[in-house]
Formats: sequence, structure tokens, C-alpha cells
Amino acid sequence: MQVFEKRSALKRCLSFIKEQNKQIGFVPTMGALHNGHLSLISTSKKNNHITVVSIFVNPTQFDNKEDLKKYPKTLEHDLSLLKTAGCDIVFIPTAEEIYDHQVVATSFSFNGLEDQMEGKFRKGHFDGVATIVQKFFNIISPTNSYFGEKDFQQLQIIKKLVQKNNIPVRIIGCPVFREKDGLAMSSRNIKLGKKERKAAPFIYQSLKKINQKLSETTIEETLLFVEGQFEKHPILNLEYIFIAEEKTLQTPKKLETSKKYRAFIAVNAGTVRLIDNISL
Ligand code: PAF
Repeated sequence: MQVFEKRSALKRCLSFIKEQNKQIGFVPTMGALHNGHLSLISTSKKNNHITVVSIFVNPTQFDNKEDLKKYPKTLEHDLSLLKTAGCDIVFIPTAEEIYDHQVVATSFSFNGLEDQMEGKFRKGHFDGVATIVQKFFNIISPTNSYFGEKDFQQLQIIKKLVQKNNIPVRIIGCPVFREKDGLAMSSRNIKLGKKERKAAPFIYQSLKKINQKLSETTIEETLLFVEGQFEKHPILNLEYIFIAEEKTLQTPKKLETSKKYRAFIAVNAGTVRLIDNISL
């Protein structure tokens, strides 16, 4: 496994690989790797000659300095996991290296995909995500790039970024990976206290409840019911609950059988923010 800190060296190595007409799979991460990341890497390895993983905690996608400071960093462990997983190339740039000394995000418009949920509650978040992902795509020029469906809004926004800017890469969404008790795998889970960790599976249980309730009643009634359950919850603070059509991320008046929908939840469990979603 080769580890690069400088983009010029990475580009040199990748241009040699591309001359041999090899397919490159790319998995962008912010480190603190877990089995969800490893499943993206394993999918990339099956479908590409070379798999590149980036580890970079991107400052411009955090609207909250404390959240950025607290973000888990486990580089040595990540590198050893990546080696075992058979990753070929790891890119670990510094902020200065990747941002050219100007650590700021570009402003994007994603046709309304960014107006709700994470975009609404974390101001500028998707400008930061799109800025860094576009930079990575420019440097790496991957054939395929893999994103987890846990961050479903991010996945749709990256697809839009690629479509609007004609970036020649295929974006592949991979299913949410869960712990045995249903908690969606996330780098943030290691920061959960004991009480919060025990409470967290309630998020997935609520998503499943939404699915069940929607077969019995309206969207409004369903949302009110689940909001009520969270109001009574002693540990989890609901930030939002949202039902939307997958492509537009707009809430419908009622569900149509010809379209695909998802339910989304964000909560604060103590000081840790968790998000999850389920296909309806
Ligand atoms: O999903 C993440 O880990 C990040 O948002 C990403 C895509 C690596 C960009 O920093």
C-alpha cells in the first residue's frame, strides 16, 4: 500500500496507472474507519483495478468549530485497517496541501437538494463537501467513486455535482452498514458515552416505525407520532425528521407507488450528532 501526502506525487503515480488503462475506484473518507468504510473499499476492489482511499477531515464542511475539533482521529489504526483491506493507495493531504493555503469553500447550487436536512441545520456544509470532493476528483480522476447511503443527501448532492459539472466519474451509493442492534455505523459512534450508545438504536427503531405507520396513516400523522416518541425520550434530542422523495428530496403530499421515498432522522445523543435514514 502506498501512502501519499502530496498531490503532485499522487498524480504522477496515478498517471502511470492510467496509461495502462486501469480502472480506478475512489473512496473519500474523513478517517476513523469502520466496517461501513471497509464495505465501500471491498466494493471498489471488486470493480476496479486500483482502489484509492483519502483520509482528510475537511474543515470547510463543519459549521461548528467544536464539532471539527472533536471529530475522531485514528490515523495509525486507519492505515493498518486499510492495509489489511487491500487498499492500494492512501491519500492523506494537509489542509494547506489540498486547499492551496486558502481554506475556503466554493458556493454551489444543487437545485434545492441542499435546502433541507443537513443543508438547513449545518450552514455551508454541502459547499464544503462539494468543494473537497471536486478537488479530489480533479486530482485522482477516478473511474468510480463510492459513497455510503447513510449520508443519502450527500450522495444525491455529489451525483448532482458530477452531472452539472460534467465530471467523468460514476458515483455509486452503497447501503447503510449497521451494528447488530441496528445503529448505523458512523465514525462518530466511538464518541458516544455508555448511556447514549445504549439509547442510539432507538433511531433505527423509529425509522422502522415510520415505515409501518405510513401504511396505516398520513405522512403528517406519522411524523407527529414519531416526534412525540422522541419528545418523551430521556437521552436523544431530535433535530429533524423528514420524509422525502429520493431524487428531489422534497416531501410529497402523499406517497405514490411509482416513486421511491426515504425517511431521515438527525438527533443529538449527548454531544454526538447522529444521522440515519431508511428506504420506504
Ligand atoms: O462522508 C464523508 O466522510 C465526507 O463528507 C467526505 C465525502 C469524505 C468529504 O469530506
